[in-house]
Amino acid sequence: MVGRRDFLRMSGVILAGAFAPACARQSGVLGPLWPGGDPFSLGVASGEPAPDGFVLWTRLAPDPLSKDPGSPGGMSGGDLGLGYEIARDEGMRDVVQRGSATAEAAFAHSVHLEVTGLEPGRPYWYRFTSGAAQSPIGRALTAPAPGAPLAKLRFACASCSNYEAGYFASYRHLAAENPDLVLFLGDYIYEYIETKRPTVRKHSDDVEPTTLPGYRNRYAQYRLDSDLQNLHGSVSALVTWDDHEVQNDYADRWSQDFDDPEHFLQRRAAAYQAFYEHMPLRPSRVRPRSGSLDLYGRFGFGDLLEFSVLDGRQYRSREACYAKPDHGGGHVETDASCPELRDPHRNYLGPAQESWLAASLSKSRARWNVIAQDVLMAQLRERLPDGKIGFWTDDWNGYPVSRRKLLQTIHDQRVQNALVLSGDIHSFWANDLKLDFDDPRSPTVASELVGTSITSYGLPYDRFAGYLADNPHVRFFDSRWRGYMVSDVTPERVTTRFQAISNPQDPNAALSTLATFVVEDGKPGPVRG
Ligand SMILES: [Fe+2]
Repeated sequence: MVGRRDFLRMSGVILAGAFAPACARQSGVLGPLWPGGDPFSLGVASGEPAPDGFVLWTRLAPDPLSKDPGSPGGMSGGDLGLGYEIARDEGMRDVVQRGSATAEAAFAHSVHLEVTGLEPGRPYWYRFTSGAAQSPIGRALTAPAPGAPLAKLRFACASCSNYEAGYFASYRHLAAENPDLVLFLGDYIYEYIETKRPTVRKHSDDVEPTTLPGYRNRYAQYRLDSDLQNLHGSVSALVTWDDHEVQNDYADRWSQDFDDPEHFLQRRAAAYQAFYEHMPLRPSRVRPRSGSLDLYGRFGFGDLLEFSVLDGRQYRSREACYAKPDHGGGHVETDASCPELRDPHRNYLGPAQESWLAASLSKSRARWNVIAQDVLMAQLRERLPDGKIGFWTDDWNGYPVSRRKLLQTIHDQRVQNALVLSGDIHSFWANDLKLDFDDPRSPTVASELVGTSITSYGLPYDRFAGYLADNPHVRFFDSRWRGYMVSDVTPERVTTRFQAISNPQDPNAALSTLATFVVEDGKPGPVRG
């Protein structure tokens, strides 16, 4: 396992700050030392590549799991200035920009630095400094200019990393693939405490967070994991969330526990703020505001590819037929038991995001239009013991009218090469997305690839494999492996490897390729490679 100190050594960082000799303070050479610990204990991250820059992130946390809610991460007091440097080389010799950034006290002394003025389509290296302390050196990428020819791009998708369920070997292997980008598709943290299944390590506070200090410490604990920290330090990220960043199966202001919505919105606001504080999000675009966070966005990479990153939780209608006894959150319903499933007034993305997505897709000139989002989109007909067909209400199967509307837009607007990336379901899937899933002759209008979980326990394999006969649009399913997806994009095709680790409970787990799927330009539907 590559440890934090190994990363520092590999990055060529001169150990300073917490590791500097005490005499440095007297000499005045290194400036004031940090009391208590390394202020950069949570590492660095970059995200949202643009043609002229990106967002750089860090958070000052000399005591990252501080139990004092008045000093998150061991920090108190007001905003703090930091230095930063950006270089053209990993040795930080060819520095092209240096300046000051602000660690905002209102956001747990996190930094979200919007860098501009850089060249398009190339890597840069960066670090932060505070007093005598230096952060690890991170690597970030600028996007090619809009419409500029781009011959290839490699991106990876990660979702569902339950700290208690396993070690983050998947993240380590993912970083070693050297992708240009990593997409986090949700369940980056888990809020609950595992009580039923085996665990390899515990959430530090052993209690489900409901407040800002609780969520902050949950993110901090995940970011202290060296495999995750190293991944963020070496690969720029695009991020969205699913439910466990707040609470299992929540929808908009509705918790799964039938809480008073006003009360739940306070919890959600705390969770959203902690998410913002720990992600390389662009503050001019995404900033917690009255308990909301405008997460969805579009990110272009030359003429090759455009990502539409969706928010599947904040604006959705509540799960259909949620009010039945014992039915908090997702459950299986049939069309007969729950006519509300097909109620045209229910909405998955919310009207504003739905319109934005339709407009984005319609005007895109990119070769590949990638929709990165949290949950399974393809229809999944679940054959029940009584022979009836049921649908899971918490993913797109619970919002078939919204799904049809999106696929109709893709079809009618002739959106070029629509490719949907999904997480949540802890299993690999390759699916044809049909214009009308209820008509087997309906055309395939888009492709869907679903990554498994980084560590979270998989679906019961035999039961779900038994559903496949009723779902001919499913080209591949396997829930027995933990891992991630990595995709190589060229103008001609997208080649995606389903990467599986040998055992999430082994920190040194080995990697293998479970299957490869190819989507050819102009031919919707993934084909086994
Ligand atoms: Fe999950």
